[in-house]
Amino acid sequence: MDYESIVKIVSESLSEKRFKHSEGVADTAVKLARQYGWDENEARLAGILHDITKELGPDEQKALMEKYSITLDEDEKDAPKLWHAITAPPYISERFGVSEDVARSVRYHTTGRAGMSLPEKIIYLADYVEPMRDFDGVEKLRKLTFSDIDEAMKLALRMSAEEVRRNGKKVHHNTLEAIEFMK
Ligand SMILES: [Fe+2]
Ligand SMILES: [Fe+2]
Repeated sequence: MDYESIVKIVSESLSEKRFKHSEGVADTAVKLARQYGWDENEARLAGILHDITKELGPDEQKALMEKYSITLDEDEKDAPKLWHAITAPPYISERFGVSEDVARSVRYHTTGRAGMSLPEKIIYLADYVEPMRDFDGVEKLRKLTFSDIDEAMKLALRMSAEEVRRNGKKVHHNTLEAIEFMK
């Protein structure tokens, strides 16, 4: 399927705001791919698709988990916000035939993981600093993302863990392991 047809499907699957966010992630991912050395088309595709299952309800998410034989771990069962990163990879692999790099960068865009690949770092950070993002410290993180991707990952993972804790939630073990790994 060509990119324009995929964009159309994404726009029909998401609210206008989240679709714009996804376009921002795709554009940012392309810039990062050029800078750090990943295929631009792959980066664009991963960016536009990363949240494609995010607006499905819990029952639809569960139906996808059933379909793709996904089992959630203890940190994921009560964290529906993480589910879209788990259901999207098999869904986009089946529907659009995306590469392993695209699927894996979508898989780890919410939690990170120990030993992230360059594509995984690019989508994680593009999601964090795309132009519509506005939060305390976004400018600093944005700059760092374009100057030192590993330092940016360290900062982003710490900020993400802090935010989860602030919201009274448990930090996913993948995030904790990613922070340890990057030290
Ligand atoms: Fe997401
Ligand atoms: Fe996102």
